[in-house]
Amino acid sequence: MSSENRTSVPNSLNEHWMPFTSNKDFKANPRLITEAKGVYLKTHHGKTQIDASSGLFCNPLGHGRKEITEAVTKQLDTLDYAQPFQQGFGGSFELATRISKHTPADLNKMFYTICGSTAVETAIKIAVAYHRAKGNAHRFRFVGRERGYHGMNIGCVSVGGMINNVKTFASILMPGVQHMRHTHLPEHKFVSGQPETGADLADDLERIATNFGPENIAACIVEPIAGSTGTLVPPKGYLQKLRDTCDKHGILLIFDEVITGWGRTGSVFASQEFGVTPDIMTMAKATTNGVVPMGVVACKDEIYDAVMDASPMGSVELFHGYTYSGIPVAVAAALAVQDIFEKEDIFERAKNLAPYFQKGLFSLQDLEAVDNIRGYGMMGGIDMKLNTKPGKAGYETFKACYEAGVNFKATGDCLIIAPQFICEEKHIDEIIDKLRTGITNYQKNQKN
Ligand SMILES: Cc1ncc(COP(=O)(O)O)c(C=O)c1O
Repeated sequence: MSSENRTSVPNSLNEHWMPFTSNKDFKANPRLITEAKGVYLKTHHGKTQIDASSGLFCNPLGHGRKEITEAVTKQLDTLDYAQPFQQGFGGSFELATRISKHTPADLNKMFYTICGSTAVETAIKIAVAYHRAKGNAHRFRFVGRERGYHGMNIGCVSVGGMINNVKTFASILMPGVQHMRHTHLPEHKFVSGQPETGADLADDLERIATNFGPENIAACIVEPIAGSTGTLVPPKGYLQKLRDTCDKHGILLIFDEVITGWGRTGSVFASQEFGVTPDIMTMAKATTNGVVPMGVVACKDEIYDAVMDASPMGSVELFHGYTYSGIPVAVAAALAVQDIFEKEDIFERAKNLAPYFQKGLFSLQDLEAVDNIRGYGMMGGIDMKLNTKPGKAGYETFKACYEAGVNFKATGDCLIIAPQFICEEKHIDEIIDKLRTGITNYQKNQKN
């Protein structure tokens, strides 16, 4: 197999330890993606699939965008890399200014990271650094939420709440983390949009604050819509209650918008969609349309100012950063993405397409193997009924859908659906039709 033509199964699959994958099963029956254009992918079997999850929520603008390729190529030709410590690169400042035009209220200061996990890890450290700068070093506890997903570094896993991600590593997690209950209530079955009930679950924050002393809590972190666990939409009033409790006790509110950021909910950020402003916000995924890894942490001016003011001129104010923080190639991709957002009025397009997608998604609720469906904007989750052990139904359905020509990610028994914003109604129809075929084939296979 030549490097230009990676279309067949490599000679050896043994050396690559694949992430979040059933390695043994995959290697016995590999699935390779060889090409991508627009809303379509090609497999090494030569079959075409429609991308129903924008990669991993990364490519809302579609695959193979020429504008991004050209911007990246030009950047690589001009300045391929500049180390980012104690010196800069103009593009990263330009990008921060452009992002700040979209972030809510005074979240105007951007710290660049490598991905979503490092954005969350950075947000945690900035929260601690802020409190310390204000003379409140005793604020070190964090509050996360069950079923939350915040990435894979130790801090992220500690505040996250998806049990399989935690189990093996429980002994090395960050101390002082408490979790609120999730909002996945039985009465929310097949509820589209925000559930009417469940806002009182936000009272868990007050309860934790009472138990541990609110003066010891640095921050509460949630995904405004929990994405990886299958689109858990916040009950009406829930996020505002968290905001109120944080304000009452001087706790920072962090919204992890790695998935919900950049138009997924219908507004640019979920914060604006739900009318609740956090103190710190993370983003990643769609920032570069998935072509180059990049994460960003947006902070309130006051947080930045407090950390700056705590150090004398000439010293490093925050001992944190990455070799790949805001590197030219990532910045070039992100700036090209910003141009496309504007030129194609992408957020408005996503907002307008969302009702059509939601209608299609919920049309699948008659399928026997489907246990529940949730959705908001351009994201949705389909829970499959349990099949002998957790995760089996999700994985088997994923494989049946892969065969049926629709590509997405399954987490446990939940199918994660998040179409690209450049989809037309006919593409949504194709996604829903192929999901129906794949799920139906899975049902049949179970009966045989
Ligand atoms: C809400 C959220 N936070 C953080 C992450 C981690 O991002 P990454 O995989 O880029 O490290 C993810 C990834 O899915 C996510 O959904």
